Amino acid sequence: MQEADKLISGEKLTHGEYVRLVESYKDEHVREALQNEAVRIRSVHYGRRVFIRGLIEFTNYCRNGCFYCGINSSCKSVTRYRLTKEEILECCSKGYEYGFRTFVLQGGEDMYFTDDILVDIISSIKNMFPDCAVTLSVGEREYSSYAKLKKAGADRYLLRHETADEQHYKRLHPKGMSLSERKRCLYNLKELGYQVGAGFMVGSPGQTSDTIASDLEFLSELSPHMIGIGPFIPHHDTIFAKEEQGSVELTLHLLTILRIMFPKVLLPATTALGTAETDGRERGILAGANVVMPNLSPVNYRKEYALYDNKICTGDEAAECIENLKEKFLKIGYEIVQDRGDYPFG
Ligand code: 5AD
Repeated sequence: MQEADKLISGEKLTHGEYVRLVESYKDEHVREALQNEAVRIRSVHYGRRVFIRGLIEFTNYCRNGCFYCGINSSCKSVTRYRLTKEEILECCSKGYEYGFRTFVLQGGEDMYFTDDILVDIISSIKNMFPDCAVTLSVGEREYSSYAKLKKAGADRYLLRHETADEQHYKRLHPKGMSLSERKRCLYNLKELGYQVGAGFMVGSPGQTSDTIASDLEFLSELSPHMIGIGPFIPHHDTIFAKEEQGSVELTLHLLTILRIMFPKVLLPATTALGTAETDGRERGILAGANVVMPNLSPVNYRKEYALYDNKICTGDEAAECIENLKEKFLKIGYEIVQDRGDYPFG
């Protein structure tokens, strides 16, 4: 297949070629050839090592009304919570014992967490765990705010662009949110020296091969250090409750394509992938991913951070079961390592 060959040889594809490449997931032979290449490329930069991140979901308050999200501001069934600094540090301590050297602070866009409060939390984590990386995932903020958080010690920032197609973005988000603002934030974060993560859901309502091609083109332009993708999974309390779930096969195909496009990228086998299919995360690794993000939040809050239905949060995918996860990955030939897992610059 022409597009696959072109991708493997490192050439830039046209929009139409990206569309055909995305659609080639229906062809088993193409998929297999691409997967072999993805695994080969990843082993050049990472060997058989898989990085872990401890995910701390520290607030489920959110000012936004993203139509797909189970903690959006109009979801009335959610019991809202915020973790205190002490609770967050407690999560980090536990995580440190389990071998985590990156903590991801993820939350809704909760303006209770002012710059000053976040700066205090970040610097406390950095003080207690100077050998650990801190990743933030707290949505859109001002340039000056991103700058303060960086200065306090934050190393990385996750902000999925969700879709690079204007019309599609509008289909997924309420008035007041815009793709251009999202992109502006991503470029600001990059300029400030964060390791930056973008990404999108696979199979979100209104997504087509054409919009995914735009995602691939936007990612080429941004050239992020991390890319998070996972299948869209409906949440019963959103207007997308009756929509179809995204395809696991297409997600795996896209992970493979992303690995070939961005050889060094930090690519998680996401919780959504593990939720959509029991061995989803293992399959993600086999497709080209090299990161997993087990849940480190206090167990009693986890069910309140349901971005989608049936989100896995206890059992083998949780941070406290890291030993089981290690064993599972060893069985497929991969080693979970104790490492910050920074982007390999240079
Ligand atoms: N299904 C899958 N992923 C979702 N996210 C939010 N809602 C859903 C859903 N229903 C993803 C978004 C967001 C990330 C934190 O979780 O892409 O950026």
